[in-house]
Amino acid sequence: MKTSTTPVDIQKAATSKIENTDFNNLAFGQVFTDHMMICDYKDGAWQTPKIQPYGPLEMDPSARVFHYGQAVFEGMKAFKDEEDQIWLFRPEDNFERINKSSERLAIPAFPKEFFFAGLEELLKLDKDWIKKGFGNSLYIRPFVIATEAGVSAAPAKEYKFMIICSPAQAYYSGEVRVKFSEEYSRAADGGVGFAKAAGNYAAQFYPTNLAKDEGFQQIIWTDANTHEYLEEAGTMNIFFRVGDKLITAPTSDRILDGVTRKSIIALAKEFNIDLEVRRVSVKEIVEAAKSGDLKEIFGSGTATVINPIVGFGHAGKKYDLPKLEDSYAGFFKDKLTKIQYNQAADKFNWRYQVK
Ligand code: COI
Repeated sequence: MKTSTTPVDIQKAATSKIENTDFNNLAFGQVFTDHMMICDYKDGAWQTPKIQPYGPLEMDPSARVFHYGQAVFEGMKAFKDEEDQIWLFRPEDNFERINKSSERLAIPAFPKEFFFAGLEELLKLDKDWIKKGFGNSLYIRPFVIATEAGVSAAPAKEYKFMIICSPAQAYYSGEVRVKFSEEYSRAADGGVGFAKAAGNYAAQFYPTNLAKDEGFQQIIWTDANTHEYLEEAGTMNIFFRVGDKLITAPTSDRILDGVTRKSIIALAKEFNIDLEVRRVSVKEIVEAAKSGDLKEIFGSGTATVINPIVGFGHAGKKYDLPKLEDSYAGFFKDKLTKIQYNQAADKFNWRYQVK
């Protein structure tokens, strides 16, 4: 569905890399398609979007993004159905969220017509990179960086909005165990936790490395003031199942308003699953784990979709979660992916066809 007549300057790649790509062995985010979209902001306006062969950028070493981290991004996916039709999942939400993130980082808003015109042209050019079959998708990474030269600490007057695409399979390979954070924090009230700001991710790497040394793959971030409430996993929102009740934290200025998260909430309501959106305390989850009432923890996000957690650590103790035949994680993954791959009715109007 082409939404506008916005012109996009297209320069096609002379050759394609697709023949040299092993689609059966894709590590997440390592291989990129033949083209990328770029749109420059200068003289107070976004210029004509361009699509050009994927490749390195040349930038001044003093560009603001390198010094002050003025950068935001999004994560989206395109899916191909059995009839070779291409689908996006709730792309308007990603468009709105990147501008919300940009606003918080003092980056000018990107026009909707440019976003959809550039994205759709790019996907049409690189459509062969989207493979059919559950689990195959094209991960789409829109982002904005401050490119103006000069190291004065002020918002830039020049930016690049770009979209790059990477064929994807699973995000996490292997089992995921998480550590409940007791010392480090991801986000604070009044901060940028709700935004997909590049720096939110950089700040997680060091504590996550420490957790990895202890045998965990991810951290579940707790509130910065007390570390008593479980908030999100940084690359995922997080859900807990105690008995048959599903619980997840409400969004706030510390928690990302995840597209997969809110889709799960909508599906839970549709299927009458007992759901509570409220603060989740470390204490209740540890007690539920001890009593056997804690059935599941799973993360949700565009890259990972739904990722079951096999165990967690807190206060020096490790807890294992049961292996369930009829998990909520499996149920929601099945419902969501069938909608994404055009194999089930789309009563919420989440699918968006690219043609
Ligand atoms: C996504 O799920 O798209 C994310 O943004 C996580 C990312 C850091 C891989």
